[in-house]
Amino acid sequence: MIRLGVNIDHVATVRQARRTNEPDPVWAAVLAELGGADGITIHLREDRRHIQQRDLRLLRETVAVLLNLELACEEEVLRIACQVRPDQATLVPERREEITTEGGLDVAGQQDRVRRAVEQLREAGIKVSLFLDPEEAQIEAAARLGVQAVELHTGGYANARGQQQQQELQKLVLAAESVRRLGLALHAGHGLTYRNVHPVAAIPGMEELNIGHSIVSRAIMVGMTQAVREMKEQMLLAVQHRGPG
Ligand code: PXP
Repeated sequence: MIRLGVNIDHVATVRQARRTNEPDPVWAAVLAELGGADGITIHLREDRRHIQQRDLRLLRETVAVLLNLELACEEEVLRIACQVRPDQATLVPERREEITTEGGLDVAGQQDRVRRAVEQLREAGIKVSLFLDPEEAQIEAAARLGVQAVELHTGGYANARGQQQQQELQKLVLAAESVRRLGLALHAGHGLTYRNVHPVAAIPGMEELNIGHSIVSRAIMVGMTQAVREMKEQMLLAVQHRGPG
């Protein structure tokens, strides 16, 4: 079987565009669960550009499926994670100026920093996954740290076209074999869409896909007709009740 972790960060992005209280990612999580989500994924970024601590706190109380928190190896957010205790933590690299997470975590290059973060999370009883580029050296370094899972970065595959996309897919297939050979759970995500998800979901042993932007984008589109209809109804009702003027 395969799990779908729905990343709801961009519901919060729309809210933060107005610093108001809608749309609420807590509502979105409930609706995602009703739609069959096996997990809810959020990224508490250092700059708090979308998900806020309030969201994490409420989602910890309300999400009935697996709650997966993406976070950087930074002291403040690690402390928050250990207090709130999501079911799973996925360590990701984070740079302030990036639009979204751009590359995998460089575990091989910063073993000590990542090791400390992994130990802290594991001591708090949280399952740890590392977000990695599909490279052998990174996967082996992850296995040495004793994490339970690796999430393969599918951005390279998602952004490539034609023959190059096939090559990127092949990298994912080989990396997936290594992840499984080393006894780690196999996850993947980033840039997956309704058009490109199929070959990734078909990789043997794939246990979890984390998908956000494409689902939130489609939710806006499939909900647009209904949302406009409901606003129009409100306006027409008001017109019917207009006083003489
Ligand atoms: N997995 C990880 C580790 C991520 O950082 C993200 C983006 O926040 C995703 C999955 C989801 O990516 P997308 O929004 O492109 O589906």
